[in-house]
Amino acid sequence: MPVVLITGCSSGFGEAMALGFAERGFQVVATMRKPTSAPASLTELAAARPDDVMLTALDVTDADMRKGVIDTVNARFGRIDVLINNAGVGSRGAFEDTPDAQLRMMFETNLFGPLDLIRLVLPLMRAQGSGRIINVTSVAAMIKTPFMSAYCASKHALDAATAALNIETRGTGVRVVSVVPGPFKTALPQNSLDRAASAPYAAIAETFNRNFDGLEAGAPTDVTPVVLAALAAATDAEPLLRYTAGTEPVKILPPILQALAPLEKIGLHLTGQD
Ligand SMILES: NC(=O)c1ccc[n+]([C@@H]2O[C@H](COP(=O)([O-])OP(=O)(O)OC[C@H]3O[C@@H](n4cnc5c(N)ncnc54)[C@H](OP(=O)(O)O)[C@@H]3O)[C@@H](O)[C@H]2O)c1
Repeated sequence: MPVVLITGCSSGFGEAMALGFAERGFQVVATMRKPTSAPASLTELAAARPDDVMLTALDVTDADMRKGVIDTVNARFGRIDVLINNAGVGSRGAFEDTPDAQLRMMFETNLFGPLDLIRLVLPLMRAQGSGRIINVTSVAAMIKTPFMSAYCASKHALDAATAALNIETRGTGVRVVSVVPGPFKTALPQNSLDRAASAPYAAIAETFNRNFDGLEAGAPTDVTPVVLAALAAATDAEPLLRYTAGTEPVKILPPILQALAPLEKIGLHLTGQD
């Protein structure tokens, strides 16, 4: 049975992917910061399939934990066929209001942790002669959104690294691809590292937040498209570089951004793609 290691399985896409991959016959290593508070769906799955499903602790920002998890999985299963870098954190706020520590924490979680996990699994995958690395990016890796500069920058960087590594590892049997979700209703907004806007940004941020809250409120709760995209990314013989999931609503984002009157008053005209 192929082995998949998934980060950030305490909720949202990670939890659903762990369930979906187990259903499709994978042995699943579902990692999360606090396995003691794992969702019931996964503790029940692990209890029902103790030989195939393992819940284990991993804070992706912790270098010792990253190495420890890969060593443990290799010792127990002898292989890692698929790594899914799913754990991530969001943030909204004016760049000027975002402290450096928060910016760095965002990059540790969304970029540096995932990249180090890739570095750790590559020797195993090379020795196997095969492997699939799936990075969960975002439409925020494609469009540039005001008040989300840190998140967009971290996801753009992960997308760029994915594309470069997909070429670099091509001769080894390893493929590095991404799943690019649009908006889904998960725990992401409530865990988002948001900052209140300071006076110079207050009016623009107020309008932006209202529009963005509306977009999030209308997002679907069923994350099946993300699970299906990840399964296709893991199993397609010739994988795409990017698998989108639920990105259709994003077509309305550029017009929303355009409609932000305060931005237009200060001479900004956003297309969302510039
Ligand atoms: N929902 C969306 O609309 C959307 C759209 C595009 C992309 N994405 C991306 O999809 C991925 C999953 O997000 P989601 O929507 O499923 O949100 P979610 O339910 O909040 O899941 C995020 C997961 O990441 C984990 N996490 C955060 N920091 C971590 C760390 N340092 N180490 C290990 N795990 C950590 C969280 O664990 P804790 O419970 O410990 O905090 C949680 O399990 C993220 O990369 C996100 O950027 C989401």
